[in-house]
Amino acid sequence: MSIEQALTYLQTHQDRFLAELEALLRIPSVSTTPDHGSDIARAANWVADNLRAMGARRVAVYPTARHPVVYGEMPASRPDAPTVLIYGHYDVQPPDPLGLWETPPFEPTVRGERLYARGATDMKGQVMASLKAVEAAAHAGLPVNIKFVIEGEEEIGSPDLAGFIADHKEMLAADVCLNPDAGMLGPDWPTITYGLRGLAYFELRVYGPAHDLHSGIYGGVVHNPAQALAELLAGMHDEHGRVTLPGFYDKVRPISEEERRALAQLPFDPEAFYLQQTGVPKLWGEPEYTPVERTGARPTLEINGLYSGYIAEGAKTVIPSYAMAKISCRLVPDQDPEEVAEQLKAYLTAHAPDTIRWELDVMDGAPASMTSLNTPGVQALAQAMQATWGRKPFYRREGGSIPVVGQMQQILGLDSVLTGFGLPDANLHAPNENLHLPTWRKGMEALVRFFYAFAEAAA
Ligand code: BES
Ligand code: MN
Repeated sequence: MSIEQALTYLQTHQDRFLAELEALLRIPSVSTTPDHGSDIARAANWVADNLRAMGARRVAVYPTARHPVVYGEMPASRPDAPTVLIYGHYDVQPPDPLGLWETPPFEPTVRGERLYARGATDMKGQVMASLKAVEAAAHAGLPVNIKFVIEGEEEIGSPDLAGFIADHKEMLAADVCLNPDAGMLGPDWPTITYGLRGLAYFELRVYGPAHDLHSGIYGGVVHNPAQALAELLAGMHDEHGRVTLPGFYDKVRPISEEERRALAQLPFDPEAFYLQQTGVPKLWGEPEYTPVERTGARPTLEINGLYSGYIAEGAKTVIPSYAMAKISCRLVPDQDPEEVAEQLKAYLTAHAPDTIRWELDVMDGAPASMTSLNTPGVQALAQAMQATWGRKPFYRREGGSIPVVGQMQQILGLDSVLTGFGLPDANLHAPNENLHLPTWRKGMEALVRFFYAFAEAAA
């Protein structure tokens, strides 16, 4: 078995790997909206076929209440090898707003060093990097057993995955879970993530008059639901950017001085970085925490969508009957999504005026997760990254959420190694999502090296 042979295989097959990634990206497997059911099925079957083509065993598409899970195994070429469970998701976020894409979201296009398409980085690119790294290593002699779990509900909070894991504990038994759905700090900064935020998601609906009203005839006697909603939303933060829901910070685990010092040493100027990445005129948020702390280790409340009244061209003088906001909280240890839902209800009960009626939908959420750094999996990945990039990885917390990490810890007692090869300017969830191809290729290399390093570390 030789790493060199596997790396050569990677080099020689790059064009095919890119073509395969493009084929997967052409399938609009959006999990959120109900109109993509057949695309979801197509993507799941495509992944299963790709696994079969590389020689995987026990490949199956497991149905769930919503979107199926794809499973497959690649056995090690020798007995007594440790097992790496590789997690991925084939679903993607909606491509909206469509008008802002330079090329259509499901027509993958290479411009310069980047491949543009919805899901290019989050995470079909990472899924294909994993599959192809395993294919290459298998060609040279796979030093670890591999199990793949590629699900289709991550972008809606993985509501059916916990059930699948609980029903297949034995099948999923492994020594480590490799999860490449996080990102890296920059093309020269390999990164291992040890913390993710959780999520609590809500839809708040405010009802006013029984139907839309002429704003001249009725303006002055009814409380406009758009205004009432705006007032409620405005009260959810204080002037320092702190969330005002009762008890919201009670369970927030403080950041230790040691961790604050470590996070302050990440290799970039956070103020400049966030200004440049976002294009805002000035940063905002809790003043006593740094931007890295605020995005990784502090909870937030965000308005993700707003709707009310007339929003088409021109003017229409109307008091809408209805207003709606989509709201989500990013959670940190040890906040509980269900408790946060109660806190939001308590806030609304205390502050909603009696001039309107409100309804709150609590959608699927997930708690935050932390993974250990002092494990054979992390050591093996660090070693693989050092060999690939010529430098040690950085360790950070990420603000995004990946529900499976906590589910695997709770149900299987299995810890994850979190990484990824997407860059901060990959436009995840936004128009013109893209994948930096040179980094993607380095990522495959690092994964191949990881398999060999882990076989030794776990021996
Ligand atoms: N890959 C992301 C999460 C992520 C992004 C982790 C950047 C680390 C760095 C994942 O696909 C995602 O977007 N998850 C959703 C989950 C949610 C719907 C429960 C998220 O964070 O919004
Ligand atoms: Mn995502």
